[in-house]
Amino acid sequence: MNMQQMIEQGTGYLLKTYSQVPVVFAKGKGCTLTDVEGKEYLDFVGGIAVNALGYGDAGLTKALTDVLDSGLLHCSNLYYNEKAIEAAKSLCTISEMDKVFFCNSGAEANEAALKLSRKFGHRDSPARTEIITMKDSFHGRTYGAVTATGQTKYHQNFDPLPQGFRYAVFNDLESVKALITKQTCAVLVEPIQGEGGVVPATKAFLQGLREICDEHDLLLIFDEVQCGMGRSGKPFAWQLYGVKPDVLTLAKALAGGVPCGAMLTNKDVASVFGPGDHASTFGGNALAAAGVCEMAHRLGDTGLCNEVTEKGEYLRTRLEGIRSKYPTLCTAVRGFGLMNGLALTIPPRQVVEACFAKGLLVLSAGSDVLRFVPPLVISTGEIEKAMVIVDEVLATLS
Ligand SMILES: Cc1ncc(COP(=O)(O)O)c(C=O)c1O
Repeated sequence: MNMQQMIEQGTGYLLKTYSQVPVVFAKGKGCTLTDVEGKEYLDFVGGIAVNALGYGDAGLTKALTDVLDSGLLHCSNLYYNEKAIEAAKSLCTISEMDKVFFCNSGAEANEAALKLSRKFGHRDSPARTEIITMKDSFHGRTYGAVTATGQTKYHQNFDPLPQGFRYAVFNDLESVKALITKQTCAVLVEPIQGEGGVVPATKAFLQGLREICDEHDLLLIFDEVQCGMGRSGKPFAWQLYGVKPDVLTLAKALAGGVPCGAMLTNKDVASVFGPGDHASTFGGNALAAAGVCEMAHRLGDTGLCNEVTEKGEYLRTRLEGIRSKYPTLCTAVRGFGLMNGLALTIPPRQVVEACFAKGLLVLSAGSDVLRFVPPLVISTGEIEKAMVIVDEVLATLS
């Protein structure tokens, strides 16, 4: 079967919930993907901020094959497994949190945080059940997570949605204050909005949220599903800002590409949940847990985070150069570490498609931003190669 025939078969059998690019990938090495016809692509998408260690990483491969060799992929949370214990300990160490609940995705991690918040609010009489989230946020596609997502386009035709969500303006503390009532139990925010257009929170905003939450006894939840796990240049974005949340949600790069999500919290808040309150059959599965252990080791014990900071600065300097070269097409460069965006005046899809034709994978964020979330192990030479392609593409569009 050639690639076109594979795509036709895929279109025939896969439910059409994605606008897929017409390519079938066969293998990956480092930061390069190869399609079934042998064409290579430099990857600045990284499975949407998932493949932090790129493809075929020796440490990750060994960690995963050791689990496969042991025969114990899964034993359920009715019992302990060694890898889940090790993963929880190392994740708590690098995140400076106390307790972990493992699940399988970002949406599921946020569902856990939403349920924890409601149960936290139910300790009071009358119960406090309202959760404040931000406009232009993205928290996932399950009912709670999509309702928490402050973008109406994701809500349309899916009503009735769960009740008790209010939407404030990101980076506008007064708008958060205006929504706080006696019913409020939590505030959920991405320290760096991803899908919304790669928009970092200001330090003053996160500090202000921390103060408001302390004052009103609200849980402060950081969704670091996209910006966590080293992407900001620190293991977690909260450490970059110096503002610690009560609850942290993770997924994407958490296990280096094996599906895994997690909700972390401190000891006091963790005691809100007891046996039977929440669960996930696959959560903390030994294979995913081994991926978490390897990621935590790389973020905590090697120079990976510092490299992310340095390479991110190089990438932003190159993007700034491109922005000033094409001022009618590019309006801003935003981001931290290796989570960066180039705001455009044209639909990013045009640039994404032209880059793809030249063997570079990039993606959009929001309606007008080109997003760069490469593997954290990307080299300066590969960044340079990508920037040359982006420059060439913008030259043809200007
Ligand atoms: C910040 C953020 N939260 C949650 C999610 C949902 O994660 P998942 O697709 O693993 O459910 C995403 C996915 O893009 C995200 O970027």
